[in-house]
Order: sequence, then structure tokens, then C-alpha cells
Amino acid sequence: MNSPAMQGLDLNAPAHVRHPGLIAWVADMAALCKPDNIHWCDGSQEEYDRLCQQLVDAGTFTRLNPAKRPGSFLARTDPSDVARVEDRTFICSDKQEDAGPTNNWMAPAEMRATLHPLFDGCMKGRTMYVVPFSMGPLGSHISHIGIELTDSAYVVVNQKLMTRMGKAVYDVLGTDGDFVPCMHTVGAPLADGQKDTTSWPCNPATKYIVHFPETREIWSYGSGYGGNALLGKKCFALRIASTMGRDQGWLAEHMLILGVTNPQGRKYHVAAAFPSACGKTNFSMLVPPKGFEGWKVTTIGDDIAWIKPHADGKLYAINPEAGYFGVAPGTNTLSNPNCMASLNENVIFTNVALTDDGDVWWEGMEQDSGSKPAHLIDWQGNDWTPEIAREKGTKAAHPNARFTVAATNNPALDAQWDDANGVAIDAFIFGGRRSTTVPLVTQARDWTEGVYMAATMGSETTAAAFGAQGVVRRDPFAMLPFCGYNMSDYFQHWLDMEKKLESMGHTLPPIFCVNWFRKNAEGKFVWPGFGENMRVLKWMIDRIEGQARGQETLFGIAPTYAEINWSGLDFSPAQFDTVTSIDKAAWEEELRLHGSHFEQLAYHLPTQLLDTKQALEKRLAEV
Ligand code: OXD
Ligand code: MN
Repeated sequence: MNSPAMQGLDLNAPAHVRHPGLIAWVADMAALCKPDNIHWCDGSQEEYDRLCQQLVDAGTFTRLNPAKRPGSFLARTDPSDVARVEDRTFICSDKQEDAGPTNNWMAPAEMRATLHPLFDGCMKGRTMYVVPFSMGPLGSHISHIGIELTDSAYVVVNQKLMTRMGKAVYDVLGTDGDFVPCMHTVGAPLADGQKDTTSWPCNPATKYIVHFPETREIWSYGSGYGGNALLGKKCFALRIASTMGRDQGWLAEHMLILGVTNPQGRKYHVAAAFPSACGKTNFSMLVPPKGFEGWKVTTIGDDIAWIKPHADGKLYAINPEAGYFGVAPGTNTLSNPNCMASLNENVIFTNVALTDDGDVWWEGMEQDSGSKPAHLIDWQGNDWTPEIAREKGTKAAHPNARFTVAATNNPALDAQWDDANGVAIDAFIFGGRRSTTVPLVTQARDWTEGVYMAATMGSETTAAAFGAQGVVRRDPFAMLPFCGYNMSDYFQHWLDMEKKLESMGHTLPPIFCVNWFRKNAEGKFVWPGFGENMRVLKWMIDRIEGQARGQETLFGIAPTYAEINWSGLDFSPAQFDTVTSIDKAAWEEELRLHGSHFEQLAYHLPTQLLDTKQALEKRLAEV
């Protein structure tokens, strides 16, 4: 045992932790945060069960009815701690211009001076958990390791489902391996002998989610929820990893990865970026509809992709995560049957409603049962009935209520999901949420046009984001809240990939732009979405296989009506026109808005994007 006694607290590092730098860091952080105990997590089932029981005893977890949801729990958070806090998220690069205009920035020294007093004694009365995790298959050359120090048992059990967490990480780390240090506290120290007065300790007044890209550190204070606290996800796998990718020549993307196999057995891999709350989990678990017998869609990842160029000149992708932290409301057997099947057992639900028979419920589930339950306990622990909901407008589940579940629960999990080499990407998809302008699907004519499409993506704000809902905001590459550096430098990094791959003798994957959300004059969605998106996916595969010619449009190459397989769906040419037509006046306005967007991103904006805009303007003038 390594056990340097430190301020009366025994570090008790287990013998399998052989990394002096790591042990010294834990000792320093323990001296700063002053926890009562330190627990080195081993990632075992026994540890998971014990911590879940501890959370039940503390009132944080309710054990669900084992006959209905075996091995599952419901957590209710503090009503002030229900989502990522983008306005409290900082990129503290040395230079402000490296954080860019879309990130909050503070000088590193100033931020450290702000955080130091907050972290000083922040874990008093609590246990500091040392959580070793691998983002990506253990030992893969595409993976990276993180160590999270946290005073939240909820974080530990979620990390167990969301990452490859446990003892084996130390074997990969050895005595001098690299790791990203991830500091997390709920920011609610306890005085001597004081007990928690709440089952969801957090700091309602003060929150900081901080990234130091140069030193690759994450410091998170005050929240116990989701991406604020499970630091492997948005903080590491996107914000810090995007800066690693910039420096090392790879891509960390807010993309799902799916496999699609045609009836002849040919398999393709697609990586797709959608902003939060745009049906990304549904697309990653898509069930082919009627008319697609023999086709198979399998999930490699539902949220994040790490993509590295390989010596064969192809781009290989892994899912750095090992579980799904998905939005529950709206999920049902129509929108996502595979997801519903994934949630049968061993799930942690957060901020959903509790049924009278000890099961869970959320808005959208009435689609499956035909009606809403007569009585529930809502996400805040209050009685809920359809009448109360009508009178007061209260939701049974918080709109950003979540499930945490291991990927291995997914019946459509791809056989290669844990492959250390990753899967070769055959196409990229970028999809926003636009009720007008952007057509159902188009293929970029070249890499630069694809980067342009991704750079100008727009979407309504998400329930996961802090702020008003329903406002359209530009969300380039679906990375607006997640890019760890200047967005225009990120565009350049994407553009540079073209030459890099071409110099390796490779043809780049085609880039497609999709929009499932066009509305008709009555304000109704026209495209049925969900499984029917398979029709669009098949057209993409046809393009890859050289089977569909498509037609030139202003915004790339689009399918003709005849090129889509309509078998099993009644969708008229007129409806198709509603979701694909290009309205000249609307596009003039759209391109003007692209101009304002680019003005905001002017620092280091690649000139190719302005040239592409000009080319689009010229085409539009000719329409
Ligand atoms: C998420 C998101 O994946 O907000 O939770 O994008
Ligand atoms: Mn996401």
C-alpha cells in the first residue's frame, strides 16, 4: 500500500495504482478539498451495488419495483440542478482569442484564483472518490484516460455505466501514462457532524464548469447533474478532446456512429452530428421500417465520436463512451423501440416521474399505453394527476429528465462497438432543426461545401441548454456548446483534413446535410421521421455505391422523388416537394444570416467559407 499520511487523512492508494504522478495529484487535491475519506474506485459490481444502496439510504435514489425494472433506480435532483449550465461553462485558454467568440473565457490565473477558495475545504464531511476511466476501448490507440475526483456517489455510479471505469484502467496507465485530471465537487461541504439537509447536495448559488485546454484539466464546481458532473462526457470527450484533436490531427465530434448493413450484407458506417434534442439517440438506434426487409441498423455510439486518420488513409471512429445518458421524455416504442428495450433493467433514471406501482413514467409514454396514468409522483416529489397537469401546466417528468444505461443493454448494439481499431467512416451527416429553408437531404458537392453546410447549421435551443426554448440558434457542427477552442480554427481544422487525407491517397467520405423538421403552411411537420429516416439513409448508401444520380440544387445534390424507396410509406410527390423545395426569397434571407453568423466568427474564419457563400449567392441569383 502507498499510504503517505497527509493532514491526518490516509491516502490509502491501492497497490495496483503504480503512477507516482497520479498519487501526488490525488494527495494535493485531497489536501485542498479536505474530504473526510478517500475511496479508490475499482469499478466492481459489488462497489456499484454498495454505492447505489448508500444513495437509497441517503434518499437520493428510490429503488424501482424489481418486478417492473430490475436493478433500477430513480434519482430526483435539486430543482435548480437539472441541466448543463452553458452560461457557467468556461474555456480558460491562455489567450482569449483561442477560446473564440462562442465560449465564455477567463484568464487562467484569474480563474484559478477564483476556484482555489471554492475548492478549499469543498469536500469536508464527504468522501472523495477516485474514479479511473477510459474514454474508448481500454488500451485502444484512439482512446484516452481520465481520472475524476468527485464527492458524489451519484457521479461514481453513473460513470460506471457511462465509461469503461475501474481497476483495469491503472494497468493501461502504468507508472507514467497520460491522463486528464477531472476535478468535481457538488460544492456543499458539511460542518463537523452536520448531516445533509437535502438528498441532492449541490450549490444553487455558484457553479463553474471550467476547462484549461493547455494543461488539459477540468474543474467542475457546484452541480451534480449530467454533463456538468460526469466529466468524461462533454467536458473531456468534446471540449478537451477537441483541443487534443486540433493539436494531434484528429477529430472529437458531437456525433453518433451507426452501422448500416444492406440485404446483400455490405456494411457501411456513418457518423452524424445533430444538436442536442434533435432525435440523435433515435437515429442511432433506428429500426428499418416496412419496405426495408433485410436491412440492419446497429449502434456504435449515440452521442460522441473520436475519429482518427489511419495509415490506410481512412478515418476510423470509436465511441469514447460506454453508455447512454439520454433524454427520456418523448421516448416511446414509436420514436425508439430499441431504446425502450434498453431501459428494461439496470437503469438509473433522473428526474422522471414515479408510478404508484414503483415504475417510471414520462411525457410521451402515453403513446404506448394509450392513456396517461391517473396518479404519479412528479420529478419534484409532488402528487401529479392529469387534472393537476391541466390546471397548473406541471410536467410529470422534467423535460431534460434522463436515463443512464450501459450500451450493452441496447439490443441493436453493433458487434464492433468496442473494437479497439474503431470502424471506418463511409459518410458524415449533419442535421439541424429547421422548419424552413434546409431541405430533407442533400449531399455536398465537395468537402468544403460540406464543411460550409456544417458550419452554418441551425437549431432550436434544447431543453438541456440553459435558456429560452424554441429560439433558433446557429449550432455549427452541433458543437457550439462543446468546442474547446475558437470555432473558426475548428472549421480550418476540418478543412485541413481534406489535404491530409488526400496526401494519404484516400477519397474523403461524402458529407450529407439533413433536416427532418420542415413544416408545412399549417405549421405541421411533413416528414414522418423516426424509422422512416431509413429511406434517406438508403439514398445516401445508393450515392456511395454509385446507384443514385441525384439532381443539382442550390445547396448540394438532392434525391429525385423516384430515387427514394417509398415502399411501405404513403408520401406523395407534393409532400416531397414541401420538404425539399428551395424558396428563393427564404434562401436570400438565409444567406444574409450566414453572413451575420460569419461576422461573429470573423477571427480566423477560413476564406474558403466566404468563397463558398459567394458561390451559393451566385447560384441563387441564377435560380
Ligand atoms: C447531451 C446533449 O447529449 O445535451 O446531453 O447534447
Ligand atoms: Mn449530446
